[in-house]
Amino acid sequence: MTHPKTFRIKSFGCQMNVYDGERMAELMADKGLAPAADGEDADLVVLNTCHIREKAAEKAYSDVGRLRTRDGGKPMIALAGCVAQAEGAEAQRRSDAIDIVVGPQAYHRLPELVAEAAQGRRQVDTDMPVLSKFDAMPARRKVGPSAFLTVQEGCDKFCTYCVVPYTRGAEVSRPWSDVVGEAEGLVEGGAREITLLGQNVSAWRGIDEKGHEGGLELLIRRLAKIDGLERIRYTTSHPADMDEGLIAAHGEVDKLMPYLHLPVQSGSDRILKAMNRSHTADSYLALIERFRAARPDMAISGDFIVGFPGETEEDFQQTLAIVDATRYASAYSFKYSARPGTPAAEMKGAVEQHVMDDRLQRLQARLSAHSLAFNRSKIGETLSILIDRKGKKPGQMIGKSPWLQSVFCETDASIGDLVEVEITEALPNSLGGRRVRPAAAA
Ligand code: 5AD
Ligand code: SF4
Repeated sequence: MTHPKTFRIKSFGCQMNVYDGERMAELMADKGLAPAADGEDADLVVLNTCHIREKAAEKAYSDVGRLRTRDGGKPMIALAGCVAQAEGAEAQRRSDAIDIVVGPQAYHRLPELVAEAAQGRRQVDTDMPVLSKFDAMPARRKVGPSAFLTVQEGCDKFCTYCVVPYTRGAEVSRPWSDVVGEAEGLVEGGAREITLLGQNVSAWRGIDEKGHEGGLELLIRRLAKIDGLERIRYTTSHPADMDEGLIAAHGEVDKLMPYLHLPVQSGSDRILKAMNRSHTADSYLALIERFRAARPDMAISGDFIVGFPGETEEDFQQTLAIVDATRYASAYSFKYSARPGTPAAEMKGAVEQHVMDDRLQRLQARLSAHSLAFNRSKIGETLSILIDRKGKKPGQMIGKSPWLQSVFCETDASIGDLVEVEITEALPNSLGGRRVRPAAAA
């Protein structure tokens, strides 16, 4: 196999994979590889995989299958991300088309692994090195108006259904100066919004320039001082790590957006306990109330699992009840998927597929009703929209509201502009409106 000249990275799963995919692309470009043009076959394909549910993991292998018989010849294939971490060398036993297996903590070594694989030596690297992979990465390049920035990785919560503590490892915070430096670089490169990422982002801890130790609140207050940065978001949070300071910051830091992704998973205390979630339905709702007291227009988003082992119809009704009580602006909901090696995979009381399907459908109907109600509540308001892409119709642009709603409008504004839009229509997943121009200064 010759050394690849072009590459393509396909990321599955969460936003952290999107971030990792961007960093791998920067790394490959730094080593002189070119991104393959649209529609063109790449010499190297990196599948940046997700292991969270069985279906997500299987997607990676069906892509491997497709690439192996590609018309233009098989590319070099690197299996990256959480499936790579979980399966290691086993992945290559499962498919001999996989040339490289590289875990999420080892991808800074991708160029060396590619060079070895080009000599016909198949590579596996799933180490979790002490040296931060970030130290070995080139500086960030030009980015879009909205950028991701990983500040924390790994998880120590061990929810009984979840593979993350095994695939991403223990909780690690990136140091203060790295994060602030990367944020400044992103803003110089064109970012106006930064989303701080972590599997358990609210567990981030660091020491500032003055030697004060603090959590996410301290970091957010510091980042808010960066000129040109207009919006700050963070995700994903665990209810156990939300402290007073972070809640207060939502009422005090204008750049911190009024949106919180706070997964609850279930509304039944019995199921929450079996999931090892350390919160109850009531403690979760009390926490939401505190956020809403600090910032009354706070939008809440969540994750849900239906059909966890032992879940009864009564448990499920409690999930519907917490949906109504929280009035989610948006949410993700999933059927439980047993993952090898997790405690829940050994639990009795599997819920039948058709019951899971039915519950998921009912839950999603309830969640969409709340999203629609939330979106409709914005009709008639004028919102500040960060334009991030072109729409399909001529002259149409799409951007995000402070509550992460997609807003369509006709405007001559460019990507990266913040514009004022009066909302005229609401759908379950988007808003439409017309641009209003601020009155000319007197
Ligand atoms: N089955 C179904 N959904 C899961 N999630 C995590 N593990 C599983 C699993 N085994 C969901 C949770 C989590 C989101 C990222 O994925 O809702 O918050
Ligand atoms: Fe998984 Fe729970 Fe950690 Fe979230 S908090 S990553 S669901 S173990």
